[in-house]
Amino acid sequence: MDHFNYKDQQLFCENLSIKEIVEKVDTPSYIYSANTFKHHYEGFQKAFAPLDPLICYSVKACGNINIIKMLSEMGSGFDVVSGGELFRVQQGGGDSSKVVYAGVGKTDAELLQAIEAGIAFFNIESEAELENLIRLSQSVNKQVHGALRVNPDVDPKTHRHTTTGKRGNKFGVDIERAQKVFKDYGNNDWVKLSCIHIHIGSPVYTVDPYVSAITKTLELIDTLRKQDFTISSFIIGGGFGADYLTGQSPSAADYAKEIVPLIQNKNLKLILEPGRSIAGNAGVLITKVLYTKQAGDKKMVIVDAAMNDLIRPAFYDGYHFIWPVSVDKKFEIDHRSQDIAIEGTQTVDVVGPICESVDFLAKNRALPPLKRGDLLAVFTAGAYGFVMSSQYNARPRAAEVLIDDKDVNIIRRRETYEDLISHEK
Ligand code: LLP
Repeated sequence: MDHFNYKDQQLFCENLSIKEIVEKVDTPSYIYSANTFKHHYEGFQKAFAPLDPLICYSVKACGNINIIKMLSEMGSGFDVVSGGELFRVQQGGGDSSKVVYAGVGKTDAELLQAIEAGIAFFNIESEAELENLIRLSQSVNKQVHGALRVNPDVDPKTHRHTTTGKRGNKFGVDIERAQKVFKDYGNNDWVKLSCIHIHIGSPVYTVDPYVSAITKTLELIDTLRKQDFTISSFIIGGGFGADYLTGQSPSAADYAKEIVPLIQNKNLKLILEPGRSIAGNAGVLITKVLYTKQAGDKKMVIVDAAMNDLIRPAFYDGYHFIWPVSVDKKFEIDHRSQDIAIEGTQTVDVVGPICESVDFLAKNRALPPLKRGDLLAVFTAGAYGFVMSSQYNARPRAAEVLIDDKDVNIIRRRETYEDLISHEK
């Protein structure tokens, strides 16, 4: 269950009203629910339990060290894509031996840092990277484990910016070339290639693309095993959907129902890299209405959060459901729907203060009548929200707040003007 619900016409996060939280932390703020994070993490653990998987939460989705600490205490491993993310995991008390590291452009410094940390798998994205990793691990006399990332050439039917497993994408090596990579490097002692990695895109709202990609990859694993290569683990990536609208995505159990039978009895340790499906609905962005105005035929609601706080609408046409924090009785809702049919709503654009036409959070959206000072909740903002924020237009980044029942923890304070210039001479 997600812990953002309306009670007596007020939106609550766990057992606190958002209005009360905002009185302490102001706007714009990211407000996370600890128990929603836990609920979604446990959902994966439970659904895939027959395979005793290692869940490596994808740090890129929401990487605050307090989130890392909370998930690490539940036994989570971590999927990282940079030295900075590995540093975050270490600072959050995560176990480096449960870290997998993907990315097409790992630098020597980053590779050495991860070798030193003793991570579980380097997800190898090219022969050139593999050669470099062999050279570096030999230079420090440390054996490491490699997962060859293959591109299974399936269409995940997601936004073109977030498709990763189609031929011609920059990720991994073409699946047909994998055998050649094993022939050339499969017996190397410095980098033990004992795992295959796939990640097809994000978000993937149906299970079929996983089934196709996994089936193709299992055929490869079979072939490699016949050639006497030891493949002991299989990383199937992340990309599992989150409910931007109620009921939009399969649950962890729905994905597992199709995936578990494919991998069961294959003598493979399963590793998952979910990010959005754990963090997405564990966070909302709260913003305040500054002004309303008419522009041509359009009603504009100008708010104090902008594309620098949440770039997904501008960048990917990302849809985020938006609803007021305090509502009249008739506007109290228990589900999020694209065509919310409540009498009395008005169709508006919700826009930010940044000097770009693409600075919007929602277009043509039905919302209850709004006035200056009203608070709005932008839902499903826990993943790829704060982490993609910037200081564009010299806007200090928002605060991040973690709610656990009735506890309010400011896990990242709002940036100040001093923060804006603190690295400049
Ligand atoms: N593993 C790998 C190798 C990845 O590249 C990604 C995401 C994940 C796991 C986690 O995917 P998730 O479970 O969170 O879907 N900024 C975009 C999403 C980019 C995803 C990049 N890779 C967005 O806001 O939609």
